[in-house]
Amino acid sequence: MTANRSVGWGMEALPRIVRGEGSYLYDAAGRRYLDGSGGPAAFSIGHGNREVNAAITAQLEQVACGYRYLFTSEPLEELTSLLLSLCGPAFGQIVYSGSGSEAVESALKVALQYWDARGLPKKKHFIARERSYHGNTLGALSVSGFLERRRPFEGSLLDVSFVSAANAYRPLRGLTGAALGEALADELEAKIEAVGAERVAAFIYEPVVGAAGGAVPAPEGYARAVAAMCARHGVLVIADEVMCGSGRCGTWRALEHDEAVPDIMAVGKGLAGGYIPLAATIVRRELGERILAAHGAILTGHTYSGHTTACAAALAVQRIIRREGLLARVHSRGEALRGELRRALAPFAEVGDVRGRGYLIGIELVEDRATRQPFPAERALSQAVGRHAFEDGLIVYPCAGNVGGVRGDTIIIAPPFNASEGELAELIEKFTGAVARTLTRS
Ligand SMILES: Cc1ncc(COP(=O)(O)O)c(C=O)c1O
Repeated sequence: MTANRSVGWGMEALPRIVRGEGSYLYDAAGRRYLDGSGGPAAFSIGHGNREVNAAITAQLEQVACGYRYLFTSEPLEELTSLLLSLCGPAFGQIVYSGSGSEAVESALKVALQYWDARGLPKKKHFIARERSYHGNTLGALSVSGFLERRRPFEGSLLDVSFVSAANAYRPLRGLTGAALGEALADELEAKIEAVGAERVAAFIYEPVVGAAGGAVPAPEGYARAVAAMCARHGVLVIADEVMCGSGRCGTWRALEHDEAVPDIMAVGKGLAGGYIPLAATIVRRELGERILAAHGAILTGHTYSGHTTACAAALAVQRIIRREGLLARVHSRGEALRGELRRALAPFAEVGDVRGRGYLIGIELVEDRATRQPFPAERALSQAVGRHAFEDGLIVYPCAGNVGGVRGDTIIIAPPFNASEGELAELIEKFTGAVARTLTRS
């Protein structure tokens, strides 16, 4: 198999998938894979769930989709009220779409439309963070601090301002604890003032950075400090919870952990558990009401927005998560899982950090643990770990470039919320084996 740093192992080498059941996938050659990362942190309750499949089939037998400009539907209405109750009373409107990129795109547009509705159409500029990923459409890519994914499109992307990544393992000026969160909020404030608050529409960030950082949680106090400061300057906060939200971090909203409420939030991936593509942009009530009063509608959406069968799938997934108490399990078991991984990986001096929140866990490999110096990019170590794990029947999610966009090796582990104890033990054992094989062979 050939390693490719951005698209997996090389198309020609991909095995043919034929079946999924619980935490396992099976290929046409009869090989079994433990899905230790839910693909790219998407498959929240595993594969082939009969209850979800039955809900999808039942909906298809009624009607696949009622076009959103002509009809509402029971799954759409029920999902909307369930999500609003899960997100809390601050939120009032939801715009559905088919992917995380579209949900982010809609979030940016909602921010622009809100300022237009307020009579402040000059507020058009976005601020984002280095080492972030918000999606592959031009708008979402424009706010992404992801060198490798942006490079061929530079010149056609929006003019966006960037501030430092928020990363306690690679902190701004070596700061620790609450001082780091405050310094990063101060840096953002200085950027808003330099651009001019009258021009800034919103600041967008991932509460726990996914592929661009390798499961990096916001530093202590950061989210609250950013929310308060942005509110003072009249700048909206967009939380991109496409990867870290929908329960992945052990609370439905990832920012619940930080006791912060954004103005707009994008979710996707785990929302419908990967059974049918579905994403959503969830909007604070007063923003949505202001837009509706001024323009009559939130001006974003697509042919299949709120697709009836996708909503039925998401409703089934979310009901299972609620009924089986999976958020509480992810919350408590996630911390223990990080501890078990730390112990299993302790013999390897190259394992610099094991971090994350809930079932979004990042492992960072470094050449020197004391200085946190990354390995040369040419060694493509995270890809090698991913490949060795895959060969041994374990799926993890390797990410590269978290240090300056080129160097840096991280691997994300994101098991299904309902993975059994035996499956988690198998995950740790196979992952440790893949790290061992990578480090001894390269
Ligand atoms: C944080 C974040 N935002 C947005 C996206 C884009 O989502 P999608 O690939 O569904 O378009 C991703 C995808 O990995 C993501 O991790």
